[in-house]
Amino acid sequence: MKTTATANANIAVIKYWGRRNDELVLPYNNSISFTMDELQTKTTVEFVDGLKADELILDGKVATEKELLRVQNFLDIIRTKIGTKKHAKVVSKNSFAKSAGLASSAAAFAALAKAATKAAGMDFEDKQLSMLARRGSGSASRSIHGGAVEWLAGKREDGEDCYAIQLSKPNDWPELRNVIAISSEHEKKVGSAAGMKFSVQNSALFKSRLESVEERAAKVREAIKKRDFGTMARSIMQESNNMHAVMLDSWPPLIYLNEVSFRVIDAIIDLNSRHSKEVAAYTFDAGPNAHIYTTNRHEKEVKEILDEINGVQKTIIAKVGEGAKINSDHLF
Ligand code: PMV
Repeated sequence: MKTTATANANIAVIKYWGRRNDELVLPYNNSISFTMDELQTKTTVEFVDGLKADELILDGKVATEKELLRVQNFLDIIRTKIGTKKHAKVVSKNSFAKSAGLASSAAAFAALAKAATKAAGMDFEDKQLSMLARRGSGSASRSIHGGAVEWLAGKREDGEDCYAIQLSKPNDWPELRNVIAISSEHEKKVGSAAGMKFSVQNSALFKSRLESVEERAAKVREAIKKRDFGTMARSIMQESNNMHAVMLDSWPPLIYLNEVSFRVIDAIIDLNSRHSKEVAAYTFDAGPNAHIYTTNRHEKEVKEILDEINGVQKTIIAKVGEGAKINSDHLF
């Protein structure tokens, strides 16, 4: 059966950086994100009788070997589960640039998990879908749900307690915005899986991060419940700084931010001090593009400030979005 699904990217406010198990993609700490609209992947999957190998078209082009291998490995998990050898045709379209810190792999593997399981005749609930999407890309486990989402690190070796849950629904915080400042659409040099491995292996700060991250997560959870932007803002800026400090402390050092990222950080600190309270908060993933969380009251002001910064190529405003969904409009 040909099946199509959509999924949105999510931007973590408490980050996933470091795995306790690489193969099963089990993280060391819980992470928290908002699924955002505007950054969407749509994917159509069909398992075809007689097809010699998996086929993958990404944004209108035949996928690279590396991209195809990642999707093949993911489809192998599904094939093993249902005991088939059938290959699949996969066509996927992003509404945004891949691999530039815009969390394309999160939307990609959430959409692929949703579409491929249904195409294979499996009826997965969100918990199982989240565990499956996790195997493609850790952060994809969170994009199965809309709204605010927490990925539970779990304790089990087999990963059966490692999946994402919804903390609040997409329309529970309608005022929240993420103003994205894009300063580079190039692929990052060190992918997140390789990067976090270096941090686990040799960053002394990584160990201290694990001691402090739960305290920030608790504040963010509480702030989400109360829709208390000020409390959330400070914790998420500290969290982003903490992860990037660990990255820099790794060997080889991981430098994902660029000079534009630092101009954005300065501008947000200035903005908050002019208001004498936190009205905006920056967070960066493994890339230089800034995600500025704010509320509808300040979105225009934030966008204008970002648009003025030398090196910011464009800004995108996203609201809290929906989880992965089946869509009837196929891509082939
Ligand atoms: O899901 P991955 O393997 O692309 O890793 C994502 C890592 C960060 O984006 C840096 C943090 C996160 O929690 O999304």
